[in-house]
Amino acid sequence: MQKPKGTYDVYGELGRKTICILNLARTLMDKYNYEYFRTPIFEPSELFHRGVGETTDIVTKETYDFVDRGKRNMTLRPEGTAGIVRSYLENKFYASPVQPVKAWYYGPMYRYEQPQAGRFREFYQFGVEVFGSFDPAIDAEVISIPVNLYKMLGLKNIKVRINSLGDTETRLKYREVLMNYFRPHLNELCDDCKARFEKNPLRILDCKVDHNLEIMKNAPKILDYLSENSRKHFNEVLEILDTMEIEYVVDPEIVRGLDYYTDTVFEVTAESSKLGSQNTLCAGGRYNNLVKTIGGVDTPGVGFALGMERLISVLETEGINLNTDQHLDIYVIPMDENYKKNAISLTQLLRLNGFSADTDYMNKNLKSNFKQADRFNSEFIIIIGENEIKNNELTVKNNKTREEFKVKIDEIISFLDERIEEHEESICE
Ligand code: HAM
Repeated sequence: MQKPKGTYDVYGELGRKTICILNLARTLMDKYNYEYFRTPIFEPSELFHRGVGETTDIVTKETYDFVDRGKRNMTLRPEGTAGIVRSYLENKFYASPVQPVKAWYYGPMYRYEQPQAGRFREFYQFGVEVFGSFDPAIDAEVISIPVNLYKMLGLKNIKVRINSLGDTETRLKYREVLMNYFRPHLNELCDDCKARFEKNPLRILDCKVDHNLEIMKNAPKILDYLSENSRKHFNEVLEILDTMEIEYVVDPEIVRGLDYYTDTVFEVTAESSKLGSQNTLCAGGRYNNLVKTIGGVDTPGVGFALGMERLISVLETEGINLNTDQHLDIYVIPMDENYKKNAISLTQLLRLNGFSADTDYMNKNLKSNFKQADRFNSEFIIIIGENEIKNNELTVKNNKTREEFKVKIDEIISFLDERIEEHEESICE
């Protein structure tokens, strides 16, 4: 049996890196005062049709759809925003006294794409969504989250690219401009783009097939058609980014592959990556009409999502070590099988007092157990045998300095407390 195409298993070093990044992201979200949300991996297909957009590649070509046993059309989520919006509405967060509502999430997403470096069929996103505020400062806050996370991880060569897709007024005007521009060139466009021409001409600019055509390069830019409100909003976002000392480039080519965006859109790219066209580390923007489209409540939103796989890949390219070496505070060794229960109860006590601890479950001899402690990079080793029980004291070895101590059993916690600095707080009451 093999894993499905475009998926991968996580274990060992990759597992430790994933947890390390996730811990960092979680801590960062505490600092930004965002709340954790989790929504189902599958939702009724209609949510994504309405949310992500009927004419997007994601909905037309890439969803994993299935009919459940109750004959309902379901889809594995291709992205996180639509589900969070559904949850925001269903749980009536728009009526919460705390506004704006700031949510963060992490989980697997599913797209039936052609797998390649940095592109998977099951991939993990960490993202945020903020509801209820039109303030350009919140756009800037959202952009600052991945920038700060990448900075904390030590990534150097990243670039924030930002654009505006304008409001409804802008879009109506721009739609006409685009249609007038592309009409004489319809024959040069691929079949998908011919269909997009009537339904959603903006999508033509995002076409992977026609991307290199000369007419694409010369197409009118939406930035030249922004309404007064949208221009003002965009300029304020840029000013706040300047105040926050976040560098960016205005990139009029950014259109985004999802239909819900209005006004600000942005991407962060890794300039050093070996991922080629998959070098977009994260992307997001504002969506002032999406909540209304999904559930009738007229609330603005803004958010972003970053791909975990691409982030890990770029960290590797840049040679950034996440300090994910294995580490254990204490490895407990029973002298023989007779002392197994003593070892287990001591291990339990250590764990409840906030230390990382493990013991032998393979009935190994002393020499193999010492080797095992080294493999786990254990700081201390505690040995329990006949003498230890008789004298009510444990043999404790510092596995780095090789120093040996005799410690009374009821003093072991305070002994270790003094010597192991960075252990968790006790989880005992
Ligand atoms: P997206 O641009 O489709 O946006 O995806 C965001 C990020 O997810 C990408 O920049 C990339 O790092 C990662 N990603 C996307 N597809 C794949 C794939 N097939 N394999 C590996 N990584 C991938 C969204 O999903 C929006 N929901 C972002 C958003 C949140 N906008 C507002 N709020």
